[in-house]
Amino acid sequence: MRSRASAPGKVILFGEHFVVYGVKAILCSINKRISATSQFLDERKVKIRSVLGEAELSIDSLHNSNLSATRFMKPFFYIVKKALEEHRKNKGIEIVIESQIPAGIGLGSSSAACVAVTASVNGLFERLSKPELVKRAIEAERIIFRKMSGADTSVSAFGGLMLYDPNSGFQKISSKNDLDLVIANSSQVHNTQEIVTRVRAFKEKNHDFFNQMCKKEDEIVKEALLAIRKNDLNMFGLLMSKNQDLLQKIKVSTEKIDLLVREAKKTSYGAKITGAGGGGCIVSLVDKSNSAATINNLKKITDCFPVKVDYQGVRYI
Ligand code: PMV
Repeated sequence: MRSRASAPGKVILFGEHFVVYGVKAILCSINKRISATSQFLDERKVKIRSVLGEAELSIDSLHNSNLSATRFMKPFFYIVKKALEEHRKNKGIEIVIESQIPAGIGLGSSSAACVAVTASVNGLFERLSKPELVKRAIEAERIIFRKMSGADTSVSAFGGLMLYDPNSGFQKISSKNDLDLVIANSSQVHNTQEIVTRVRAFKEKNHDFFNQMCKKEDEIVKEALLAIRKNDLNMFGLLMSKNQDLLQKIKVSTEKIDLLVREAKKTSYGAKITGAGGGGCIVSLVDKSNSAATINNLKKITDCFPVKVDYQGVRYI
């Protein structure tokens, strides 16, 4: 028996970094997916194959060790361990992970992988509800990212456009318009934890200034919700660019990102960093009238591709 599931990556449209200090964020899942296929093995081993490498553990070391596999694989072994314990089974399992999402550039690949693997492994026994699936995927991902907010995991499992409140969870946002986005990769490797730590140090040194930035971000998020309701792309794009100005002021932009944002703004409605910054990707808002021009423009500098909002979230295949 095989159990197969896939889950989407995400972009943050508004509120990264400020969300860590209580401001709401707007994010959406995108039509780039990670899929996971699980099956029982005759051998008493857990084997994982993915584009980032392969790893295996015997069932005994799965239960007895601290999962000393490579860092990237740890959450997946944890998901298997939990499922086997819950169902009192000691069978081997193989998981194959395939991805359309480049890793480590802020498009939510690790959350999407945790959601897809949780659905696929548990699907060998029973299909979990989305809330239960999110809970387990967050638990697994926190083994390696202890302080992650859970926003990426929620949007990957539920799909769509979402307002994320770090204090009370998320709310789906309904939009009349199917947003068209263009992602451009700065090709600068970024480390989310390192940049979050840098921003914390910046906040501690510039307390009042940072509080002002949080207030401005809060306003931007409120106005963005209105723009979505009115289907006002000009306003939505302008607010994305305003949000980028704040991100620049807290020093998470780079020269390359500034260049990409400037170029994207020539043809699109607006552009900004998506995710932690310090490299990674930018996202720009387009529609049919300016999508090709924006892609052609950005392609001269870097890798870029169009994405749309995914409304399905996790799904069994
Ligand atoms: O780079 P990403 O996609 O992992 O996004 C990080 C978003 C932050 O707001 C910087 C951190 C967080 O936990 O929300």
